[in-house]
Amino acid sequence: MEDINRDTVSVFQDVPQAPPDAIFNLTKQYKEDTYDKKINVGVGAFRTDDLKPYVLPVVKKAEAILFNDANLDHEYQPIAGEESYTRAAVKLILGEDSPAIVEKRYAGVQTISGTGANHTGALFLSLFYKKSKKCFISNPTWANHRNIFSLVGFDVEEYPYWNPETRGLDYVGLLQSMREAPEGSIYVLHACAHNPTGVDPTQDEWKGIAEVMREKNHFPFFDCAYQGFASGDLNKDAWAVRYFVEQGFELFVCQSFAKNFGLYGERAGNLTIVTKSETNAQGVLSQFEKLQRSEISNPPAFGSRIVKTVLNNQELYNEWTKNLQYMSGRIIEMRKALRDKLTELNTPGTWNHITDQIGMFSFTGLKKSQVQVLKEKYHIYMTENGRISMAGVSTKNVDYLAEAIDYVVRNVQ
Ligand SMILES: Cc1ncc(COP(=O)(O)O)c(C=O)c1O
Repeated sequence: MEDINRDTVSVFQDVPQAPPDAIFNLTKQYKEDTYDKKINVGVGAFRTDDLKPYVLPVVKKAEAILFNDANLDHEYQPIAGEESYTRAAVKLILGEDSPAIVEKRYAGVQTISGTGANHTGALFLSLFYKKSKKCFISNPTWANHRNIFSLVGFDVEEYPYWNPETRGLDYVGLLQSMREAPEGSIYVLHACAHNPTGVDPTQDEWKGIAEVMREKNHFPFFDCAYQGFASGDLNKDAWAVRYFVEQGFELFVCQSFAKNFGLYGERAGNLTIVTKSETNAQGVLSQFEKLQRSEISNPPAFGSRIVKTVLNNQELYNEWTKNLQYMSGRIIEMRKALRDKLTELNTPGTWNHITDQIGMFSFTGLKKSQVQVLKEKYHIYMTENGRISMAGVSTKNVDYLAEAIDYVVRNVQ
């Protein structure tokens, strides 16, 4: 009897089925749909006006350089990544003249794209950050923030961010949360192009946020997945991070090169760390190396080689900024086209938020029931919260999209 049990009863029998990932599941449904006018505005990856994936021309050049480099091998990388990569990544986000760089009180760790930077940073804080076990994420936010911080043991709460009435930032609510939070809480802040709302604080609002965070000794944990992709200007998109550094904060910044280099699958990311002193930075880096060793041992080489080839070569860097302007420019044009069409159709409501918002996503304000009808009647796929990826909008489908939105706004409660 005992033997039979051993053969048939799994040690995993109590493991429940987890729900599929909402975004990847949406793409699967879209792919299975055979309707010719179908639209995928769920995906968080750039598409050309022909709705094709885009390999940046500068990336192709860097690949050719790597391919022809007779000295390249496939040895392990250093545990924290090549310094020529992490230094370039740190410089990109903090700016060359950053006081943190000048005073050598920074460190960089190559991570598994932006997700890995969030995870490694959160894991480090769970072990070494002693002020608080509370972590605040924006409401709404990128779905992974909660998973990542709660998995490493933080008590995760949300701070108000989106104000549905103004379809903008709930600045008052945000500041109130920061004032009421326990001293030294961790605040996850989107450096630019907030996902999913596309709403960023203004520079004055960032100054107000920094002031309260300083008063309450909160720890800024920046997530920067869209530098250069948001406005087309790498410096402008890094403004908030640089302001906090100027104000003397110690902080982490998660960097992803998925969107701004189109290197989604290559998993090239970086965690930039700013501390009070060079000695602090060295100690922190040594512990990150220890953590990284047990987690991934060494970071992957291909994507980071492309990134560092571009970042460390002025000519390629200049070309990259043009590629960024093309991507951000197309997104901005599509925002305008969608807003214009909705205005032309006299679709009830105001639509200026579509062009006010920035980055890959637009938070339309559409209800779950309306999103459902868009999928069932029009074969338009978007996340339940009404978020549209502007990358899925093109000159060819924008009219169809606007007409469908017009229908649901008028007819679906
Ligand atoms: C806010 C935010 N953080 C981090 C990421 C991480 O992306 P990746 O791991 O592909 O670099 C994303 C991607 O969608 C994001 O929107």
